[in-house]
Amino acid sequence: MKLKIALVPGDGIGPDIVAEAMKVLGAVCDTYRHKMDLSFYLAGGVAIDTMGEPLPESTLIGCSESQAVLLGAVGGPKWDNLSGDKRPEKALLGLRGNLGLFCNLRPAILYPQLQQACPLKESIVEGGLDILVIRELTGGIYFGKRGRNESGDAAYDTMAYSVGEIERIVRKAFEAAKGRNRRLTSVDKANILETSRLWRSVVNRIAADYPDIAVSHMYVDNASMQLVRNPKQFDVIVTENMFGDILSDEASMITGSIGMLPSASLREESFGMYEPIHGSAPDIAGLDKANPIATILSVAMMLRYSFALEDEARTIEKAVSKVLDSKARTADIMSEGMQLVGTKEMGSLIAEQCKNK
Ligand code: IPM
Ligand code: MG
Repeated sequence: MKLKIALVPGDGIGPDIVAEAMKVLGAVCDTYRHKMDLSFYLAGGVAIDTMGEPLPESTLIGCSESQAVLLGAVGGPKWDNLSGDKRPEKALLGLRGNLGLFCNLRPAILYPQLQQACPLKESIVEGGLDILVIRELTGGIYFGKRGRNESGDAAYDTMAYSVGEIERIVRKAFEAAKGRNRRLTSVDKANILETSRLWRSVVNRIAADYPDIAVSHMYVDNASMQLVRNPKQFDVIVTENMFGDILSDEASMITGSIGMLPSASLREESFGMYEPIHGSAPDIAGLDKANPIATILSVAMMLRYSFALEDEARTIEKAVSKVLDSKARTADIMSEGMQLVGTKEMGSLIAEQCKNK
């Protein structure tokens, strides 16, 4: 099979981690005899610097003509003073919105080998954690109307959702729960927000089509508390854009490090964009310190969701686990008795493991 992939390394550690993910993809493709058709595109601060805008048309076209996109990270202090529309983050929202990637999957898995890196008590996470946060990605307050009044001393952002937008993400969540432990928690703020009340009614209607899934509703403030109090109660969480942004950072930390978590942003068909959920960490860019595992696991998600190559995806996931067994650790997941390795060595170790099916 030939895999046509657009690579968007972006800013900060983006190029460091994408390079390692490509090493791993290269190894998997060798092992399974696939060919790669890779093209690089600019987005974020690097695109502002070289082309004058965060998301050049050529990037959007290149990405939309590929079967999948692998993105590193965008943003950094250098561009922090630019106005909303010119910021590097605009590239991310532009890609998500223009490519129609409404369904964001953020699995939070605590590897048993990393238990020591988890900030929660052992009794709370005993036996591991496996939570899938499903975040609506192209609606809500991220994409609503925003602005200032004429004198500039008041501002507004609007949160809007249509039934159609809610229904398509909620259906994805029920389907995901079906393939897992059949528990779905829908997170909202229905005691305050009208969008949440609409969200809740759609969830309840669709629940009738999935009688074997246990559905519950939870307010977002409570959910953020429950995630640290008793995270094992969660299987699949589905929520709107901004709540999902916040809760997925929280969920990531309880798995040890934000440097471990991949994500997939999907639409109805197989096309998708894959990226680590962490940011561009400009302070360690180019220093061979970043953890490439989140990006490497994002490649596994790409193989699974965009190319339906389940064995290949599992090969990467097993390789990551094997390398963690071997005690190799980047700085963010380092603990006593482990062996500190850099970005490149971590990538090479995982790539090496991928030579065994
Ligand atoms: C994320 C990030 C982005 C978001 C930022 C960088 C725009 O935090 O993917 O979670 O808020 O969606
Ligand atoms: Mg975020």
